[in-house]
Amino acid sequence: MDRNNPAPSWREQQPRRILVIDDNPAMASSMAEVLELEGYAPEIARTGRQALEACSHASFGAALVDINLPDISGEALIKKLLSRQPEISCIIITGHASLESAVNAVSAPGVAGYELKPPDMDRVLALCREIFARQQAQAEARMFRDIIGNMQNGIYIYKMETRGGEDIFRFLTGNPASVQITGVPVSDLIGKTMFENFPKLKETSIAAQYAALAREGHAVTPGELLYEDHRIPRKWFFVKAFPLPDHCLGVMFEDITNRKIMELELKQRELELQILSHKTLSLQEKERARLARELHDELGQQLTALRWGLDRLENKVDEPAHKEQIRALTHALSAVTRHLRGIVKGLRPPLLDDLPIDLALQSLVDEFRDMAAFDIRADFAGVAGLRIPEQSATVAYRILQESLTNALRHSHATAVLVSMTREQDKAVLRIEDDGRGFDPESLRGASGGFGLAGMRERAALCGGAVSLQSRPGRGTTVSLHLPLTENPKG
Ligand SMILES: Nc1ncnc2c1ncn2[C@@H]1O[C@H](COP(=O)(O)OP(=O)(O)OP(=O)(O)O)[C@@H](O)[C@H]1O
Ligand SMILES: [Mg+2]
Repeated sequence: MDRNNPAPSWREQQPRRILVIDDNPAMASSMAEVLELEGYAPEIARTGRQALEACSHASFGAALVDINLPDISGEALIKKLLSRQPEISCIIITGHASLESAVNAVSAPGVAGYELKPPDMDRVLALCREIFARQQAQAEARMFRDIIGNMQNGIYIYKMETRGGEDIFRFLTGNPASVQITGVPVSDLIGKTMFENFPKLKETSIAAQYAALAREGHAVTPGELLYEDHRIPRKWFFVKAFPLPDHCLGVMFEDITNRKIMELELKQRELELQILSHKTLSLQEKERARLARELHDELGQQLTALRWGLDRLENKVDEPAHKEQIRALTHALSAVTRHLRGIVKGLRPPLLDDLPIDLALQSLVDEFRDMAAFDIRADFAGVAGLRIPEQSATVAYRILQESLTNALRHSHATAVLVSMTREQDKAVLRIEDDGRGFDPESLRGASGGFGLAGMRERAALCGGAVSLQSRPGRGTTVSLHLPLTENPKG
């Protein structure tokens, strides 16, 4: 809005109607002309009856009343006008003969002044300006009172005073909502200071903030406040203070206790879920390790024993056909053993606490290279020889595993680039494919795969974070930021 040329208030936008009542047509129209030139909307009435009729179809802010009318006395007409339009202000236009009654009438309600005929229009216009300005101020005050009275937020108004160097906020008034919210009647608060009324406020940051507002006009940041005293039960409030004219302070507040309780419950729930998923993931890792051990130790030994038995059998038989059959069995057994080794490896990352991270990740890349239809390039030069805590290494390993599995299953990529770099106190693992991509938003709330969600959970396990960039037709990039502890092992 233009500061020098503010928009007219809603009241200024209404036509400013003035009723001109005079039985002399020339006098009436010359007054009306002047009024019109000044932007007013005049309407002429020749008799009292016409004037009252006009009042039934339009409302007037002011009336210029000739008190010598043929059909009614000036005094009676003004009374009738007021009974129809209580807000109207009358300016009496009188000849010398009726001056006395005009002067008497000025003290009557609804009469703003008088003018001798022929009227000095400058003075009449000055009176009109005053009348309309007052009416506008009254209407605006009424409107704001109604708005504040109907608001759901509580409002307190204070007067700011300084007594002996101390800032005092004296309570002036409050709206009905304030009573509903606090349970304290406005009449109990009037005249006392903010801290007399609400003693516990002194212990909050509000005291200093309001003092700064009073002294330097500093804005007070709206904020949340937990409050309780002998009258007000423990509640959360959202509070906003704003300076008002005449050293007054408005404080608007809202009871947000229910929302706060829900927020806290939600946070608690989130925390519990996080703990649960951390537990689940580490249990999963343990369970996989146990399975891997079992498969390796038990099944692996039995397969070795079988292999050994077959070898001995082969040496014992002479029949070439039997020898051939045994060789075929040995061959099949080798395939089963390789397969088992693959499963064990997938279940348990290679000795992550022994290997530097680049070698661990490289071994996984090599495994995928054998299976994948796309070209995989890996760059771990930035972390060559770096040892990181086993838990972080497991997280990186699993996220790479899931990302490459996704690329294999979903991407139709021709090339995948895997890299791990060091950025200050972080290691950043990136898996970038040039495949068909997807819209990550479309997965929100969808009950689809567990892979991407699992990556995020895993990253959180060691204080890291995963971000996903993908667009249909534009490939997919998964990035993992892993914090490196001050003193990584080794
Ligand atoms: N690299 C990728 N290229 C294209 N689409 C992908 C890629 N990675 C994931 N997606 C899409 O995101 C979806 C969710 O992936 P997510 O790993 O969470 O589940 P999933 O792979 O379908 O199943 P899960 O991992 O549980 O076995 C996939 O179904 C796929 O549509
Ligand atoms: Mg997946």
